[in-house]
Amino acid sequence: MTILVTGGAGFIGSNFIFHMMEAHPEDRIVCLDALTYAGNLSTLESVLDAGGFRFVKGDIADRDLVYSLFEEERPDVVVNFAAESHVDRSIEDPEIFLRTNIIGTSVLMDASRRCGVKRFHQVSTDEVYGDLPLDRPDLFFTEDTPLHTSSPYSSSKAGADLLVLAYHRTYGLPVTISRCSNNYGPYQFPEKLIPLMIINALSDRPLPVYGRGENVRDWLYVEDHCKAIDLIIHKGRVGQVYNIGGHNEMRNIDIVRLVLEELGKPESLITYVADRKGHDLRYAIDPAKMHSELGWLPETMFRDGIVKTIRWYLENESWWRPIISGEYMNYYDRMYSGKVKA
Ligand code: NAD
Ligand code: TYD
Repeated sequence: MTILVTGGAGFIGSNFIFHMMEAHPEDRIVCLDALTYAGNLSTLESVLDAGGFRFVKGDIADRDLVYSLFEEERPDVVVNFAAESHVDRSIEDPEIFLRTNIIGTSVLMDASRRCGVKRFHQVSTDEVYGDLPLDRPDLFFTEDTPLHTSSPYSSSKAGADLLVLAYHRTYGLPVTISRCSNNYGPYQFPEKLIPLMIINALSDRPLPVYGRGENVRDWLYVEDHCKAIDLIIHKGRVGQVYNIGGHNEMRNIDIVRLVLEELGKPESLITYVADRKGHDLRYAIDPAKMHSELGWLPETMFRDGIVKTIRWYLENESWWRPIISGEYMNYYDRMYSGKVKA
């Protein structure tokens, strides 16, 4: 079958392409990606010339381009990773989040209806549920937790989720949605917590921790997320939402300390900076449905995953070094110079 993967030049999408090409070599993969600041064609270098793979540069919100690609390729399955994905950028400038994450998703679903796509899978996030209090470790997000977003990013993802469910009910589009917790692993853009801390530590630059570093995230190794999506598109029930997470909650400050320890760098590099506006306190996923319905369980323990990830950044400086020049440095200076506490 032909699988259209949008956003496949980004972090999770590229890992998903690598996983699918290995697990299902008989399938054809078409990747549609606009190559925004977060998309990097060099990430896909190892598969660009492979048989059964095609890369197309384009915007998911460009209706003419999307319709003609669907007519040409007639995909059986669409997996939509394409998104603006960084909370801090959404706080700075929400508009592009609405265009890509909501309008883009609706254009892809219109094209999917026209072409009789057999499955439209929307890659969503646990952030659509808002946050949980720090002093109630007994509470988790289930698929029935009401949507209650905090940032322009999570609101745009929640808007897309509602549209996806509406296309299912109104037009009968065969959809599934997955809502995953925070991912880490190779090829993550260095604006996100773990790669940012690894790269700053390697360069002996300050490690900017928002607030007191007590916010909690539920971390999942990216390959486990990719395997879960593979299961959902093959065996998941149409119209259903699946939460993905590994019961691996960590405070930000503990992650930062672990990165420093692994790299043999001093804790004096930690710099507490002004908090993120509207900063979600705690995310924690209940992944029971993924386990009971689809038999999915995470395979990578956090300690192993973080060591593998750090090693990957150490061995792949040629991937991240060009990324942290130019536009990224302008972004970094803009975001972090304003955050430094007096
Ligand atoms: P990313 O920012 O690394 O990659 C996004 C990709 O989408 C990039 O390659 C970019 O070029 C592409 N893109 C952006 N706008 C586009 C457009 N208009 N048309 C076509 N392509 C476009 O993001 P990621 O971390 O890989 O996240 C992928 C998906 O997973 C997103 O939908 C995100 O909401 C979701 N998600 C991410 C996490 C996480 O921890 N990173 C957790 C749960 C869910
Ligand atoms: P991030 O990787 O942006 O993911 P998300 O906000 O989607 O969970 O941030 C993870 C956590 O790390 C979040 O609580 C914010 C915090 N953080 C910092 O403390 N410093 C930083 O420089 C960044 C980017 C994030």
